[in-house]
Amino acid sequence: MISRRHKIYLALFCAFIFFILYRPNTSTQMSSKLSLPVVIVGSGLAGLSAGNQLVSKYKIPIVLLEKASTLGGNSIKASSGINGAVTSTQKALNVEDSTDLFYQDTVKSALGLGIPALQEKLSNESSSAVTWLQQEFDLKLDLLAQLGGHSRPRTHRSSGKLPPGFEIVKALSDALKSISEENPDMVTIYNNSKVVDLDIEKGKVQAVQYVDENGESKVIKTNHIVFCSGGFGYSTEMLEKYAPQLRHLPTTNGAQTTGDGQKILEKLGGDLIDMTQVQVHPTGFIDPANRSSNWKFLAAEALRGLGGILLNPSTGRRFVNELDTRDKVTAAIQEDCPQDENRAYLVMSESVYAEYKNNMDFYLFKKLIKKTTVSDFAQELPISEDDLSKELETYSTAKEDTFGRSLRVNTFESGISKDSTIYVGEITPVVHFTMGGVRINENAEVIGKNGEALAEGLYAAGEVSGGVHGGNRLGGSSLLECVVFGRTAANSIMSKL
Ligand code: FAD
Ligand code: SIN
Repeated sequence: MISRRHKIYLALFCAFIFFILYRPNTSTQMSSKLSLPVVIVGSGLAGLSAGNQLVSKYKIPIVLLEKASTLGGNSIKASSGINGAVTSTQKALNVEDSTDLFYQDTVKSALGLGIPALQEKLSNESSSAVTWLQQEFDLKLDLLAQLGGHSRPRTHRSSGKLPPGFEIVKALSDALKSISEENPDMVTIYNNSKVVDLDIEKGKVQAVQYVDENGESKVIKTNHIVFCSGGFGYSTEMLEKYAPQLRHLPTTNGAQTTGDGQKILEKLGGDLIDMTQVQVHPTGFIDPANRSSNWKFLAAEALRGLGGILLNPSTGRRFVNELDTRDKVTAAIQEDCPQDENRAYLVMSESVYAEYKNNMDFYLFKKLIKKTTVSDFAQELPISEDDLSKELETYSTAKEDTFGRSLRVNTFESGISKDSTIYVGEITPVVHFTMGGVRINENAEVIGKNGEALAEGLYAAGEVSGGVHGGNRLGGSSLLECVVFGRTAANSIMSKL
């Protein structure tokens, strides 16, 4: 005879066994709900963020299509870092910040354009984006710089030898490659594979068409596509169409940056917004060995954020708050410096060198900057070595900066004289980033001209999308946008399964 108590124990035991046998298994549950893989177009940080979130968090299989022979797009070149407000790094370095302050800076910089809901999401999710990179990929992101237009230091990079874009892209692409090796059904990566079109039927994504490395047309069936194909800063055709006044400027962008996603999505009915808003970065290095090259190495904004100043070659004097937003610094170079040359000098102290040593060594190695003395550099200017020393000293010691620059760190040594060491490069404004792109909503869904989602299963993230930065992007907010909206696209796909 089984007592009532034993019956209860037996029932609980059976329930436990039932739970163990039939509990939801995330991995198999997800893959079985999704018979076709998610296709990601482009392997910059937006694509890598979407891919890692889909695969590692949700066990959803992906195919990554990349038209270039290597992974990483422009993301791999990022030199200053990724923004985050109220991060553990800021706390450790005693920087008081708030997501609202970051939002206000973003809106002010955007000059009344862009979509406030996206800008709010960008700032609200900035801290978790940085945390995700730190926790999931073991990235330190333990140093900060304050870039133009930011009211706090919030652009994160890691101590160590690797520049931020390279470090982040390497970590995220290595993660996908290693899953691909262990489980090829989960991650497939095709390089040299250019997406050319999509099939959408009855309002739902059905397939993607691409041209493979042998020039053959291929089709992958899928119900979910995330476009992460980047901007159009390298395309003279697109610049001619949207910002013809800039088509003669050099660019920092890689040759793959040709706006393929914008063109494909527009043809399908996607709403392109802010396409005329092309960011000119004030400081591309003029390489003394190839002054007229149309492609320029970027002189990272961190060089100014960490202490660099700009001098007008025709006066030998400062002429702008170097940490104003990019549009304003660019306008000052174009208006105040000799207009036929469109250039200025970027001058840095020994302490900028010490704080940004790895990057500075790279620029020295490439001969984009030189280590010199006040006296030698004065030979290139129309002022004497004493006047140049005074100009650098005034900047370093004045109570109030002549141009309203609020952050003056790593200034020139006290008692700077003709023999003092300085670092100097020549810079010119360069086409750097395209703020416009296909309209998305807070779920990273592509929006059509009627204001509705263009098709079920169609997402976009990163520079291909528009609305996040409006008329002027803050430095460090592009990598952030890639992580925030790349992960969002993945979350949206998961939430609709
Ligand atoms: P990308 O990284 O450009 O990747 C897009 C990928 O899509 C490319 O690999 C491309 O080949 C691929 N693709 C395009 N079309 C197709 C197609 N038809 N089929 C298949 N694949 C396709 N931002 C910051 O926030 N902080 C920084 O410090 C910073 N520094 C920068 C330094 C430089 C020199 C440059 C150029 C940019 C910098 N930026 C920085 C901006 C930022 O790096 C990029 O805007 C951002 O990384 C874009 O990421 P993405 O993933 O959208 O596109
Ligand atoms: C830079 O390093 O100046 C680029 C930063 C950015 O584009 O966000």
